Amino acid sequence: MAYTVPKLTDYSAAALEQAAEKCLRACTEEAGQIYNDADLKAFRDRWLARKNGILTQINDGWLKGAPKEAKRETGIRVNELKARIQELVENAHVSRTTTEVASKECVDTTLPGIRRPIGAEHPIVRTSNEIVAVFQRLGYSVAEGPVVETDYYNFEALNFPPNHPARDTQDTLFIAGQESKPLRERLLLRTHTSPVQIRTMEKLRPPIRIVIPGQVHRNDPPDASHSPMFHQIEGLAVDTNITFGDLKGTLDHAMKELFGSSVKTSFRPSFFPFTEPSAELYVTCFVCGGSGKRGSDPCRPCKQTGWMEVLGCGMVDPNVFEFVKDNGYDPRRVSGFAFGMGVDRLALLKYGVDDLQLFFQGDVRFLRQWS
Ligand code: PHE
Repeated sequence: MAYTVPKLTDYSAAALEQAAEKCLRACTEEAGQIYNDADLKAFRDRWLARKNGILTQINDGWLKGAPKEAKRETGIRVNELKARIQELVENAHVSRTTTEVASKECVDTTLPGIRRPIGAEHPIVRTSNEIVAVFQRLGYSVAEGPVVETDYYNFEALNFPPNHPARDTQDTLFIAGQESKPLRERLLLRTHTSPVQIRTMEKLRPPIRIVIPGQVHRNDPPDASHSPMFHQIEGLAVDTNITFGDLKGTLDHAMKELFGSSVKTSFRPSFFPFTEPSAELYVTCFVCGGSGKRGSDPCRPCKQTGWMEVLGCGMVDPNVFEFVKDNGYDPRRVSGFAFGMGVDRLALLKYGVDDLQLFFQGDVRFLRQWS
């Protein structure tokens, strides 16, 4: 029911208060129901019109009808009320109707959705996952470690003594400003995934079987077959009585899983400070099948040798176990093998890409080919 100005008979403070309250409440409510300019004008006129507006009615009815002794008090109350109502009327504005609100904020489920392309696994990630999966089927778990590493994990605990010439062959990228720290705490970009061997053996007691995929860095200028950042997968198995025969059998099996059952493997002597003995593993070229030729042309990927080097490996050097001896790796009780392979070159050959840089330039036209 619309508000009308009541006639006052009781001029006590409480009665005045109540009447003022009721009036204010009515004005506030009406201010919330203005949906267009005409409503707004009607609202203003209703409350403020000089001739017969609600405020005029209150002024005339309440003030003039007040008994003498209550005049002063009533005047003060009425003025207060007028100020509040004027404020409400000044601030009044057109509200959006409920249907307008609905049309702006509701979801129209009949509209077609926004298409968000989900992308695809990068060919290097995909190749890496495939290699990891081969070892997972053999019971290996996956471990990871930091890309920014200390000298201790990247070199010292892997049996590279300070000033060992093998440190040079790694073309290490060092983090600047580390000179004030002791050598073993200085930071660098890991040059291989092998530091995670130590990190894992510090955490887990033997027996362990793990594969470690990850990014590594070396100070190589970028070209079609080199990049200062590339990817490796490390493997480590430690138990009692692990032999070189286990190493050969495991890797031969893995290569057949990866490249097909007709692939042959060849282990050739090599050197790494953290394995002894060490070897490089070659497989028959999976481009030419080992003949060194493609039709009458020479096979380029294997440089016509019919063999491709895929990884470095060896039996874990007892000196490495010395660094984690306290966690159950007594070199007189346990033995193990380790291997590390480059992922990027395998991805290149697998996907028939002739320039490694294409993998890292983020050109969608190139990457879209594998989506
Ligand atoms: N970390 C060696 C490299 O990057 C590879 C390797 C790993 C060799 C494990 C032996 C054992 O060249």
